[in-house]
Formats: sequence, C-alpha cells, structure tokens
Amino acid sequence: MNERIYINEVAPRDGLQIEPVFVPTTEKVALIDAISATGVAAIETTSFTSSKAIPSLADASDVLAGIHRHKGVRYVALVPNQRGAERALESGADEYNLVLSASDSHGLANLRMTPWQSLERLEGVIAHVRARAPATIFNASISTAFGCPFEGPVAEAKILGIVERLGGLGVDGISLCDTTGMANPSQVSNLCKHVLTHHSELRLTLHLHNTRGMGLANALAGWQVGVVHFDAALGGLGGCPFAPGASGNVCTEDLVHMFEEMGVDTGVDLEALIKVAQTLPTLLGHEMPGQVVKAGRANRRYPTPKSAV
Ligand code: COA
Ligand code: ZN
Repeated sequence: MNERIYINEVAPRDGLQIEPVFVPTTEKVALIDAISATGVAAIETTSFTSSKAIPSLADASDVLAGIHRHKGVRYVALVPNQRGAERALESGADEYNLVLSASDSHGLANLRMTPWQSLERLEGVIAHVRARAPATIFNASISTAFGCPFEGPVAEAKILGIVERLGGLGVDGISLCDTTGMANPSQVSNLCKHVLTHHSELRLTLHLHNTRGMGLANALAGWQVGVVHFDAALGGLGGCPFAPGASGNVCTEDLVHMFEEMGVDTGVDLEALIKVAQTLPTLLGHEMPGQVVKAGRANRRYPTPKSAV
C-alpha cells in the first residue's frame, strides 16, 4: 500500500462554481492563500469558462493574478475550450484541467459537446498551448466516468477508449470523476485497476462526490488498488451546475483525517486545514457537510462524566 497520497484542493473551483452567492475576488484570493499554507499538493483555483455558464467564477484572471504562490504547490485552472485556453495562457496557471464528459447527454448539457467532439477540440487546445507555453501541464477530467444522471451507467470500455485517446493527445494526467456520486467501491476498484495497469504513464486522480455518502469508501477503494492522487473540497463543497442532483465533493479534511488516522501521509497539516474549513460557513452563509470539523478528530477526548468514574 502506498504510504503517501497527494491532495488537489478543488473548493475554489468545484466548490464555488455551484454557490449562489458571488464570493468577492479578495475573499477567493484569501481562501486560496490560506489553503496554500496547509501542505496540499495542488489547488484548482478557478475556471476559464463562459461567465454566462458559471457566473460565480467570472473573475478567474483576477484571482490568479492576486494569489501568492507557494513553492511546491501546483496552481491549476479548469479550461473547457480554446477561448478558455487563451485566457489561461495570460494567467500563468501551472496546470490546465481540461474537461470532457464520458456521456453524450452530460457533455451536451455541460459543454455543448459530445465526448468525441470534445476530444477533437482538446487536441487543438493542447497543440495551441504547447506551442506557446511548453511547460504547461495538462490534466483531463472525465466527468460522469462512473455513471451519468441522464443516461445511467457508462460502459467501462467507453471510458477506457477515452483514456486511450487522451493518452494519445499527450496529456500528463487524467481524473476519473464521479460527478453525481454514483460510484461504488467495487466499480472504483475495477476501473482504477484497469487504468493504472494499462496507462501507467498517466497520473491518475480520483474526483469523487459524496452525493450518496460513498465518497470516503470510494477513495479508500481507489487507494487500495494504487491511486495516490485525490481531488477533494474543503468543507465538502461542490457540484456541477449542469448535472441534476449533484452535490458536494468528498470533504478534504475528512479525507485527510481518514488517511492520517490510517498512518498514510497526506502532506497536509490537518489542524491548519480545519482552521480554514471553519471560515467557510461565514464566507458562504451556510453550514458545510464536512464532519470532522463538527466532531473533532478521532483523538479528541471529552471529560469523563462523573457517573462513569
Ligand atoms: N471564457 C469566456 N467566455 C467564453 C468561453 C470561455 N472559455 N467560451 C465561450 N465563451 C463565450 C463566448 O465568447 C460567447 O460569448 P457571447 O455570447 O458574448 O458572444 C459565448 O460564451 C458562447 O460561446 P460559444 O463558443 O458558442 O460557446 P458555447 O456557448 O458552446 O459554450 C462553454 C461552451 C464550454 C464555454 C460553456 O458551455 C461553458 O463554459 N460551460 C461551463 C462548463 C463548466 O465549467 N462546467 C462545470 C465544471 S465541469
Ligand atoms: Zn466535481
């Protein structure tokens, strides 16, 4: 079993994209700066999407211009198309997270493209960026990889075909995304095993939503077959506005707590992370689904009640 895992904190992007309130740019920058100091490997900072599609992230360029970059942290931006890539190029993001869907229906709802149309377009985007900024890292996130809210199950062979094509396009990594929390641990284990075996050249990340309470179980199943990169969102924020029923990502502090309790190094200072998570209810005006913030760590001790003495 791997003794070290790596966290990509996605709350500033996947978390804020579904929030009804527009978080002011200075607050977003402060949040990202606070997360930068916790030891996460990467932060998905924002997305260069159309502001009509995702109004809450319309300030993507200003966010990236405002943050203080910490050594050792990769700053990622979501890029859906050529126009997004042009904007990202000016922002100096370290890594572009390209997105496509595994299912036609979600692809059309989210990006107005089927998976195969996306792959054609992304080929052009990668070539365009590589010609201008050769050091750019590319990740490709495959939404609905474990099931689509419109179509139901997505054949494993289809996912593997998409991964194969993405490998051919020269991406550095892929994320298998459980956009609406449909995955179960057996499914995660099987698909991850396949991808790790046949595409060891690609960095594999699991992007899990906790919509049906299976987020941590799925993360554990992935880790048990060799996955070491996980997306997670502080507080358990998140969801895709174009996938009905979508709700929060697996919660970063809960994920870090689980792995640290198991003796797996996450690189993250859990106390520092919890402090940042505690700021979210005030920032966003509602409670968070995350549990460790409420319950405290497993090593928390309450005073012994008198009756038990
Ligand atoms: N950044 C800013 N504006 C963009 C843009 C981008 N990356 N891509 C398109 N636009 C603008 C165009 O300039 C155009 O603006 P106009 O109406 O003022 O002329 C408008 O959006 C439509 O452009 P078009 O090329 O027809 O794109 P589209 O309508 O097919 O939209 C997407 C495609 C991908 C940009 C859009 O569907 C989108 O942003 N979806 C959000 C995806 C997402 O982030 N989902 C959640 C995470 S998975
Ligand atoms: Zn997501």
